[in-house]
Amino acid sequence: MGIKQKPELTGIIYLSQALIDFDRQSIEQLLKVATTKNYQFNITGYLYYEDEHFFQYIEGETVQVNRLMENIQHDGRHSVLIDVHDDTLISRRFPGWNMRYIYKDQLREITMEKVFLKYLIHNSYRKPETNGNLPSGTW
Ligand SMILES: Cc1cc2nc3c(=O)[nH]c(=O)nc-3n(C[C@H](O)[C@H](O)[C@H](O)COP(=O)(O)O)c2cc1C
Repeated sequence: MGIKQKPELTGIIYLSQALIDFDRQSIEQLLKVATTKNYQFNITGYLYYEDEHFFQYIEGETVQVNRLMENIQHDGRHSVLIDVHDDTLISRRFPGWNMRYIYKDQLREITMEKVFLKYLIHNSYRKPETNGNLPSGTW
């Protein structure tokens, strides 16, 4: 009693294919909506666009992130090809970024390989038929 539980966090990473022509202006418009709504629901992450594909990382309270992902899945402007969920996120990776747009030369700065590695390891070891020997430090 009296102990306030921290809400559970989830992170989702996905790749999608654009179904309409996105130019600078339409991406800026999308970001405007995304940033405002994400601020409201305390969702953080970033968006990357290249060669008619989006790559997005969203994180926040599980309920909010799942709700947003549902929205994103139903958005007719793109088609989600693959998504990976991590529902054991301990702390946010990008606090304060309500939806940062990442340019090519910034990818290195946020050590993308670390984010990818964690997600791929997590996804690979999740299935019960694997030997269960998680490398230490993984989720
Ligand atoms: C590539 C892509 C990324 C998006 N990212 C977000 C986002 O981070 N946050 C958000 O609220 N909406 C995002 N949207 C828009 C949502 O799909 C949806 O249009 C928006 O949340 C408005 O939903 P509403 O009409 O129910 O208010 C994104 C859409 C696309 C195509």
